[in-house]
Amino acid sequence: MLAAYASSQSADDPLSGLEVGERPDPEPREGWTTVSLRASGLNHHDVWSLRGVGLPADRLPMVLGCDGAGVDPDGNEVIVHAVIPSDGWRGDETLDPRRTLLSELHDGTLAQKVSVPVGNLVPKPEGLSWEHAACLSTAWLTAYRMLFTNAALTPGATVLVQGAGGGVATALVQLGNAAGYRMWVTARDEEKGRRALEIGADRAFGSGERLPARVDAVMETVGAATWSHSVNSLNPGGTIVISGATSGDAPAKAELTKIFFKQLRVVGSTMGTRGELERLAQFVAHRGIEPVVDSVMPLAQARDGFAKMAAGDVFGKIVFTV
Ligand SMILES: NC(=O)c1ccc[n+]([C@@H]2O[C@H](COP(=O)([O-])OP(=O)(O)OC[C@H]3O[C@@H](n4cnc5c(N)ncnc54)[C@H](OP(=O)(O)O)[C@@H]3O)[C@@H](O)[C@H]2O)c1
Repeated sequence: MLAAYASSQSADDPLSGLEVGERPDPEPREGWTTVSLRASGLNHHDVWSLRGVGLPADRLPMVLGCDGAGVDPDGNEVIVHAVIPSDGWRGDETLDPRRTLLSELHDGTLAQKVSVPVGNLVPKPEGLSWEHAACLSTAWLTAYRMLFTNAALTPGATVLVQGAGGGVATALVQLGNAAGYRMWVTARDEEKGRRALEIGADRAFGSGERLPARVDAVMETVGAATWSHSVNSLNPGGTIVISGATSGDAPAKAELTKIFFKQLRVVGSTMGTRGELERLAQFVAHRGIEPVVDSVMPLAQARDGFAKMAAGDVFGKIVFTV
């Protein structure tokens, strides 16, 4: 089958280890099923894997990808849930210390076929396109859990999203807007800020710009470059939900004093459960939300999509058709 896979890793030149070519079809496995993918989404996680973060070198070659939608062997249209619990785990799979994401231990979704546990399929709502369904498994699921499970907000709250164009950032704006939150974003360039306003943000600011008022919660995926601004932007008692650190995980100022003095909550968030993915898919379908797609390209051209993401040149999701 055709697949985009990591054959080697390089911290400085991630694309050097990317191959787009033939890999063996998935082997049948007890309790698992094979999905014929129609579309797959790219995440920054896939760039991290090529940089050698989160994917041990002794597991290469590894098919990349956590997002995907396709057809199961019974002809059902499904969305793939990428969090794979360890054998026998019960309860919230994101809390399983031995859970993995697709492409970390088992081959991922940037391929014609992917094998997953039978419990890892979610029905694709009717009317949701393949391209939009393929956006949901990772960035959108992460945004859903950040906003609705971990931020403890009610409609009317003001939420700052650090970054504007990323997959998680655009999902946060679209979901928060649909749920009745006032969504503010920071962007590194004006054009991305302007586009954020078009998809539901109420205000857009430059990175690090002083805000006109403090906010109830900050959604943080950028990390070192924005951490201090996130802490300083919050109301006393406010919440930072952090799910990523694209610019690095060691901020120059940790702002510990402000965190305890303002009694802030710092909440880590990773992916989401199968149940949350199912509710996300229903929410998106019921509200007619169309995930912002930066570009759609055939899987055979995956290298172009990776190059765009590694360069930070995205607004929304990059989707590969299979
Ligand atoms: N914990 C989890 O389960 C989970 C799930 C999904 C993602 N993540 C992590 O979250 C991060 C974002 O993922 P993604 O797929 O959304 O990535 P992406 O599409 O590549 O987006 C990157 C985002 O980071 C911003 N950014 C990058 N460097 C920046 C800098 N130096 N200063 C300010 N902003 C910067 C960009 O802002 P602009 O709009 O200004 O360009 C953009 O919004 C990644 O690190 C990823 O690994 C974690």
